[in-house]
Amino acid sequence: MCGIVGYIGTNEAYPVLIKGLHRLEYRGYDSAGVAIVGPDAGLNVFKAKGRVADLEAFCKSKNISGTIGIAHTRWATHGEPSNINAHPHYSQSETLALIHNGIIENYAVLKKELALNGYTFQSSTDTEVLVQLIEYIKVSNKVDICTAVQLALEQVVGAYAIAVIEKGNPDLIIAARKSSPLVVGIGDDAFFLASDATPIIEYTNQVVYLEDEEIAIIRRNKPLKVVSIGNVEKTHEIIRLEMNLSQLEKGGYPHFMLKEIFEQPRTLRDCMRGRINVELTNVVLSGIIDNKEKFLNARRILILACGTSWHAGLIGEYLLEEFCRIPVEVEYSSEFRYRNPIIYPDDIVIAISQSGETADTLAAIELAKEAGAFVYGICNVVGSSIPRNTHSGSYTHVGPEIGVASTKAFTAQALVLTLMALCIGREKKTISEERFLKLLSEINNIPDKIELILQSNDSIKTLSNIFTYAHNFIYLGRGYSYPVAMEGALKLKEISYIHAEGYPAAEMKHGPIALIDNEMPVVVIATNNGAYDKMISNIQEIKARNGRVVAIANKDDTMVKAIADYVIEIPETEECLDPLLSTIPLQLLSYHIAVNKQRDVDMPRNLAKSVTVE
Ligand code: AGP
Ligand code: GLU
Repeated sequence: MCGIVGYIGTNEAYPVLIKGLHRLEYRGYDSAGVAIVGPDAGLNVFKAKGRVADLEAFCKSKNISGTIGIAHTRWATHGEPSNINAHPHYSQSETLALIHNGIIENYAVLKKELALNGYTFQSSTDTEVLVQLIEYIKVSNKVDICTAVQLALEQVVGAYAIAVIEKGNPDLIIAARKSSPLVVGIGDDAFFLASDATPIIEYTNQVVYLEDEEIAIIRRNKPLKVVSIGNVEKTHEIIRLEMNLSQLEKGGYPHFMLKEIFEQPRTLRDCMRGRINVELTNVVLSGIIDNKEKFLNARRILILACGTSWHAGLIGEYLLEEFCRIPVEVEYSSEFRYRNPIIYPDDIVIAISQSGETADTLAAIELAKEAGAFVYGICNVVGSSIPRNTHSGSYTHVGPEIGVASTKAFTAQALVLTLMALCIGREKKTISEERFLKLLSEINNIPDKIELILQSNDSIKTLSNIFTYAHNFIYLGRGYSYPVAMEGALKLKEISYIHAEGYPAAEMKHGPIALIDNEMPVVVIATNNGAYDKMISNIQEIKARNGRVVAIANKDDTMVKAIADYVIEIPETEECLDPLLSTIPLQLLSYHIAVNKQRDVDMPRNLAKSVTVE
C-alpha cells in the first residue's frame, strides 16, 4: 500500500514530489508528507492527515525549498491516520527522515531494544522503529548511512520499500525494497524514485526496477549504484518504458473510473491485438505456446487471486473446464497460502492480478513454486512483482488503471482467460475446429458490442436515481453470469458503500429469498443463454415476493420485459463471452449510484488500489 516518491536533481524537489504523490494517491490516501534537505543542508519534514491536497495547503506557508526530497502518501497499517503517524518519520536526533511502504513485522521486539538504549517514539507506527534503528546503528557502529541501512535491514522481518535522506547530506537518497515495489527513474541530470512508474514517466522513460533486498544508492551527479543488503554490488538493467503520460490523465471524464469503463472497447482490442490473427483463424499466446507440453500434461489448474481478479478467475474456471477439460480450482490467495494446500508438481497455477503487487497473491505464488508447480501470471502492470516472479504469463495490456474499483482490468482478465482456454483447447483438441472459429469471430465482435452498451449510459444514469437510496442489493446470475453477479455486487459496495450480495440464482431459495420485499432491488443477469428458462423462473419467484427486478437481458427479449421492473438491454453473444458484455451495465450502474451519493468514486474510503500488505 502507500505511495513513495523521491527526487534528487537540479530543480526544486517539492513540485516534483507533490505531483508524484497525486499520481500515486490511488495507493493510499489517509495522510501524506514530504521531507526535503534545504539549501542550508537542514532536514525539514512536513506532514498532514488527509489527502495530498491537505498536505499542499499545509505547506503553502512553509519553506519547502531544496533540490532533494522524499514524499509519501499513507495507507495506515500500524497506528491510526494522523499527523504524527504520517510519514516521513524523523529519527530521534532528527538527522534522518524515512518513508516506508509495507509492514515491519518484528517492530515490537526492535522497539523494546531501542527503548532500552534510550530511544523514545513519537508515533505508533512500525515505520518509526526502523528509522530509529538505522540511526542507532549509524551512531553506535560509527558507519555511513548506507551501511547503517544495510545492517538495520538485516534485522528486519517483514515487507518494505523505503527511502531515507539525511541532514547535512543534500547529495544522497538511500532506497531499498523487499516485497514492496520501488522503481528508480534515470533522468539527464536527476534521479526519481517511486512505487510505480507513473510519477516518473513525465520526466524520463529510463527506469530500473529494484529487486527484493536490493539497495539503491542514488547520488547527485553520479551513476546509480545498486548493492545487496550484504553489500555486494549488483548489476541493474535499465528498462525503457513505453507508457505515455496522456494515458494517465482523465481525458475529459469526471472520474478515472468512468474513463476506464468507456475505454473497454479499446482496451479489449489492445488485449487481443497480436494474439488473434487477422483472418480470425488462430490464437497465439506465446506464454502458452512456449510451454505447450506443460499445459497439455497439466493434472489440474489452480487459479489464485483476490477481489475482482478472483471473480475473473471463476470465469476462467468455467472456460478452462469447458474448452480444455482440465479440472480447475479457484482460490483466494489469502486462504490458499495459509491452509497447507496440496500442490502437485504437474499442477499449473494461474495467478491473476491487475497490480501485480498483491501481497497475498505473491506469497501464494511462492508457495506454489516451492512445491514445483508451473506458475503463469495474468497481470496488467508491466514489470510489477508478479510478472517478475512467475515462470511465464500474459499481460492484459489495458494501460494504467487508476480508479480503485477495477473495471477495464477485469474484462481484459476474462478475455485473456478466454484466449488461453481456446489456445490450450485447440492444442489439446478438446474443442472442435468449428466452435473454435465461431468463438474467435465472436470475440472479434465484442468491442463493437460494448460500444453499443455504452450508449445506454444515460438511461442507466436515469435508472440509478431510483436506487440511490436503497440499503441493500442482491445480484443474481447462473453459470458464466454468476461471477458477474458477484463482481457487480463488489463494484456497488466498494464505491457506493451500499451493502450488496452476489449469488448464484438457484441458491436464492436456500436463504437470501428471505430478504426479498418491495424495498429490495434485485439485479438479475437474464441473458439468453443455457440457463435462460431457469432465470425466468427465478425472476418470477422474486416478483411473487414483491422484489424489484432490474434485469440485464438481450435486446428485444419480450419475456423478460414483461416481468422485470426495469430492463437494461445488451446485445446477444456466445454464452462464454457473456461476462464481457453483462459486466458493463453493472459497472455503470454502480458508478452512477456512487456519484448520486456523492462518494469519492476513484478513491473510496478504506480501500487502496494495490494491497501490498496481507
Ligand atoms: C477491485 O475493484 C478491488 N478494488 C479489489 O478487489 C482488487 O481486485 C483486489 O485487491 C486485487 O487486486 P489485484 O488485481 O491488483 O491483485
Ligand atoms: N506500516 C506503515 C504504517 O502504517 C506503512 C504503511 C503504508 O504502506 O502506507 O505507517
